[in-house]
Amino acid sequence: MFIAQQELQALMEKAKPYAENGNIPDYIPALHEMDENLFGIVIRKDNEIVAAGDADHRFTLQSASKVISLALALMDKGEEVVFKKVGMEPTGDPFNTIQALEEEEPSKPLNPMINAGAIAVTSLIAGSPEEKKRRLLDFVRELADNNKISICEKTAQSEWEHSDLNKALSYFMKSHNVIHGHIDELLDVYIKQCSIQVNCKELARIGSVIGGNGKDPVSGRQLIPPRIAAIIKTFMVTCGMYNASGEFAIRVGIPAKSGVSGALLGAHPNGIGFGIISPPLNEYGNSAAGIKVLEEVSQTYTLSIF
Ligand code: DON
Repeated sequence: MFIAQQELQALMEKAKPYAENGNIPDYIPALHEMDENLFGIVIRKDNEIVAAGDADHRFTLQSASKVISLALALMDKGEEVVFKKVGMEPTGDPFNTIQALEEEEPSKPLNPMINAGAIAVTSLIAGSPEEKKRRLLDFVRELADNNKISICEKTAQSEWEHSDLNKALSYFMKSHNVIHGHIDELLDVYIKQCSIQVNCKELARIGSVIGGNGKDPVSGRQLIPPRIAAIIKTFMVTCGMYNASGEFAIRVGIPAKSGVSGALLGAHPNGIGFGIISPPLNEYGNSAAGIKVLEEVSQTYTLSIF
C-alpha cells in the first residue's frame, strides 16, 4: 500500500479541525443525533486496507447510495432507458433543487446525483417496491462483502416524517411523466436505500470495486460491468459533490460521492477505494473534514486523476 497507518493517522489529525467549520444537518432529526466528533477513514487496494479513527462505526449511506442505485438501474434497464428519464449534466444547484426540473423541457432531472434524479433512478430498478428494496440491500451486501448489512429503520422513519421536499419533487416528476406509480411506495424504497448502514471498511470496499472497473478485488468476479462502472465514476467527478464538484475536482481529483450523514465514498480508477465518515457538513452538504482528509491524501501521494 502507498500509505502507512501512521501517515494516514497524521493526515487525519491535520484534517480534524475542519469539522469545526461544518454543521450537522437538522432536516433529518435522526442524523442530527450523530456524534460530531466521529471521524474515520479506510483506504483499500486489493486485499490490503489501511484504517484510522472510527473505521468500524456504522452510519447510513444517504446520497452515497445514489451511485449504487444508478449501477443497478443501468444493469437492469440499460443506458438508453435510464438516460431518457435522467440527464447527464451537472446542475450548479444544491442536492435538493427543484428549480432545474421546471426549466428543462420536457421536464427531466439534470443528473442522477441530485435527489430528483436519484428518485427517478430508483423508480427504474426492476421489481415491485419490496423487490427493489431487497435487491438494493443485496447489491450493497455483495459490493461490501458482508451479508449482514442492514437498514437503519430509525433513520428511515425519521427521514420519512420530514420528506415533504422529496415528496414535492416526486409529485412534480409524476405530473411530468418522469416517474409513474405510487409515490409513497417509491419514496419508501429511496429512503430505505439512503438508510442502509455501512462502516468505513465496507464503504472503502465498495469504492475499490467501482474504482477497479466493477471487479471484486478479492474474488475477481465482475460485480458491475466495466462500462457502467465508468459511467458512475464520471458522474462522481462531475456531480458527486453537487455544486462543489468543480472545486473538489481541482483540489482532490478523485471520483467521490458524499452523503448528508457525513459519508464520503471514493473510487479511484486504479482500484483504490476510500470510505470516510465525519458528520459535520460544509455549506454544500459535503463532509467538511472528510473532504479535507481526502485532499491531504490525494495531494501528498499525487493521486489526482487529472
Ligand atoms: O434525500 C435526502 O435528502 C437524503 N436521504 C439524502 C441526501 C444527501 O445525502 C445529500 N448529500 N449530501
